[in-house]
Amino acid sequence: MRLKAHPVRSLSGRARPPGDKSISHRSLIMGALAHGETTVRGLLEGADVLNTAAAMRAYGASVEALGDGCWRVVGRGGLKEPIAPIDFGNSGTGARLTMGAAARFPILSIFTGDGSLSGRPMARVLDPLRTMGAQSFARAGGRLPVALQGKAGLAPLAHAPQIASAQIKSAILLAGLGAEGRSEILEPKRTRDHTERMLKAFGASIAESECPSGGWRVSVEGPASLYPAPVTVPADPSSAAFPAVAAAILAGSEVRLEGVCLNPLRAGLYATLRDMGAALTVLAQTDSAGETIGDLLIRGGGLRAVSPPAARASDMIDEFPILAVACAFAEGTSVLTGAEELRVKESDRIALMVNGLRACGVEIEERPDGMIIEGKGAGGVKGGAVIETHGDHRIAMSFLVLGLAAQNPVIVEDADMIATSFPGFSAFMAGLGADIRVDA
Ligand code: S3P
Repeated sequence: MRLKAHPVRSLSGRARPPGDKSISHRSLIMGALAHGETTVRGLLEGADVLNTAAAMRAYGASVEALGDGCWRVVGRGGLKEPIAPIDFGNSGTGARLTMGAAARFPILSIFTGDGSLSGRPMARVLDPLRTMGAQSFARAGGRLPVALQGKAGLAPLAHAPQIASAQIKSAILLAGLGAEGRSEILEPKRTRDHTERMLKAFGASIAESECPSGGWRVSVEGPASLYPAPVTVPADPSSAAFPAVAAAILAGSEVRLEGVCLNPLRAGLYATLRDMGAALTVLAQTDSAGETIGDLLIRGGGLRAVSPPAARASDMIDEFPILAVACAFAEGTSVLTGAEELRVKESDRIALMVNGLRACGVEIEERPDGMIIEGKGAGGVKGGAVIETHGDHRIAMSFLVLGLAAQNPVIVEDADMIATSFPGFSAFMAGLGADIRVDA
């Protein structure tokens, strides 16, 4: 499906973005690992999470939609061997976290995925799991399909990944639940901690501390059983980023996004938008099921260029594409760095943003770990291009947002994948005054 975004004057209104993808995956996986019934409210019913739901069924859990985003997961206190390969679709989180969860049971699992997921590196998870005692076979370069033979009574692991990745950390923590002793991860930079928060709520013993040598240490005590705790999934700050930036680049806009997860390890984009001079306030802040949530109020106009610290990259790793769009509408030169991981996300997001922004009339220099963007100021981006997304949902949404504020409409090829993380995106945006239509 091709979508076309037409320029509009401004956006206004209030709405709740869909549930958080990271927390949704985790709630299903931990619910399946736990003994008994877990209730999840506000689950993201996007394709990625639905694949994880199907995966947990294949491992023997009962996973049922009760309606209105409310789900019931009944876990057996462990995973049973699936009888067929499991397809994780487009989702690195679903595949990598499940590898960790399955590694500690004496079962064979075959992991498959779509073209994008099959090109993404899995050795970063399979190597540490192998050190713990789980065997695996993968295509060259550690790509899917992967066969993973788990083992009861894994060896505990102390691991210091080179990459700051919540997926690596989470896989090891989930495997560590089945290890004989304490498993520890030393992250080069602290990453999103939803796994730690949820594991604590499900009764696991997790310790965290800052390292004197830099970095962040997280450990789990094994062997451990999980016990169900209710999960309320807040709205996804990575999805809220699209209407938030759309409002910020359109002068005269006023948009309120409700119930958004304000976890500081996910808030890098919002800190950066403030650095750019965006009028962004948090209202109705409260704590909900282990996460801080609040409403984001964004008023449009007057963005200036920004060069966020590289250390902030992991706090906004999924938001770089839409941040690049914000920079295109800012006054001045923005330098985005520290984001080499973008090369191995659902697509090479640096290359696709550079190509797309250039096609829309923005001067941009590609760097190995980011880009330098010559901002055109409000109303200064030409648009009028047809954008290739390589099936990447965040690239598609970023350029549709750009089209709303550009001088000419923007067409996005291959926009179906938006449903992996933001089902109903066009209708959601239309509710705020956007004009995004199917292009025949
Ligand atoms: C995620 C972690 C991030 C992020 C992904 C979701 C998670 O990946 O890009 O969309 O839920 O743990 P990395 O941890 O590999 O950077």
